[in-house]
Amino acid sequence: MEPLLPGAPWLVAHRSMLNKDRPRRVTLNGRDYVLWQNRQGEISALNNVCPHMQAPLSEGWICAGRITCPFHALEFDGQGRMWQEGRSGAALARPLKIFVEDDCIWTYGGFAPQLPIPELHRHLARDYEFLGVAGETSLQADLLSSLLINYDFNHQNGTHREMFRVISCTVPSFVQSEYHAHVEMQLVRAANTPGELAKNPALALLPRQMSNTLEYAFPSTTVLIADVPFGRLAQVHIVYPETESRTRTFILLYGQIANPLLKRLLRKPLLEAAATVVAQDARAIESLYPREKPGVRLANDEIIAYAERLFREWPSAFAPVPADTLQCSDSPQGQGDCSNQQ
Ligand code: FES
Ligand SMILES: [Fe+2]
Repeated sequence: MEPLLPGAPWLVAHRSMLNKDRPRRVTLNGRDYVLWQNRQGEISALNNVCPHMQAPLSEGWICAGRITCPFHALEFDGQGRMWQEGRSGAALARPLKIFVEDDCIWTYGGFAPQLPIPELHRHLARDYEFLGVAGETSLQADLLSSLLINYDFNHQNGTHREMFRVISCTVPSFVQSEYHAHVEMQLVRAANTPGELAKNPALALLPRQMSNTLEYAFPSTTVLIADVPFGRLAQVHIVYPETESRTRTFILLYGQIANPLLKRLLRKPLLEAAATVVAQDARAIESLYPREKPGVRLANDEIIAYAERLFREWPSAFAPVPADTLQCSDSPQGQGDCSNQQ
């Protein structure tokens, strides 16, 4: 496939999604990779195709921190070197360059970076506590459709009607700065029915009037920040293209909940509510007919138009970022630099 948005930084997994010593397959822009975390917490990534006879390494197992191919049991270390007679030999398997920042695993998928890894995630990790991952889904939908729903300030009226019971949604502020945008949103909602509350107890915690903030780092990240009676939540929607017609999405949930008991009690229902949001979005996106020019314009559709322009004009909507301003820090494995990768 033609890669989508080559040179964009993609957040392909959070550390908590990798069980120690268990390989995980990641598909990005039509290519498969294998990721694993050893017992010391070091994360490695290789092309998933075994260089011997092309078996999928992600079906293998981890032995002493090395991945073992499921077909003939050859072992490769994190740099792709074959392990033979007690030592590393030639680099045969192709490594994928990754950047591990605040437990988020980023990659440019082998392309020269066009944008830095967004600062936004660093701020979230600094100011919030990580609560978990929710709603990981491989959407049967193209990247653009999967992205745009996060820039759509009307879809909550239909897609999420059972959750939010929206009476009105206004956007007093939309500020864009190249690939970053900041939106203030005011939501007035009706009470949920007893049946809706029974299905989703976390809804009882949502106020009837909400002032939410959305922070965008195109293309990977949308953050919804909501003040709630017990603190503040940051729901981080992540997307990346698996293939032309499949998009991976998940939510990283962060919170500022001072009361430790409340935090313990609320974590699970909050994650379940986040997963419901993803499931509702998925149902909407996956049922769309092929995209055409919209026949009607709604209020705030300029926010969708902004994201669509960034997508269609990539990477020339704005001048490329000079390489020396890219902010990539060293991962624990020393894999982090921002040189061009092919
Ligand atoms: S195919 Fe991987 S070891 Fe043979
Ligand atoms: Fe949604």
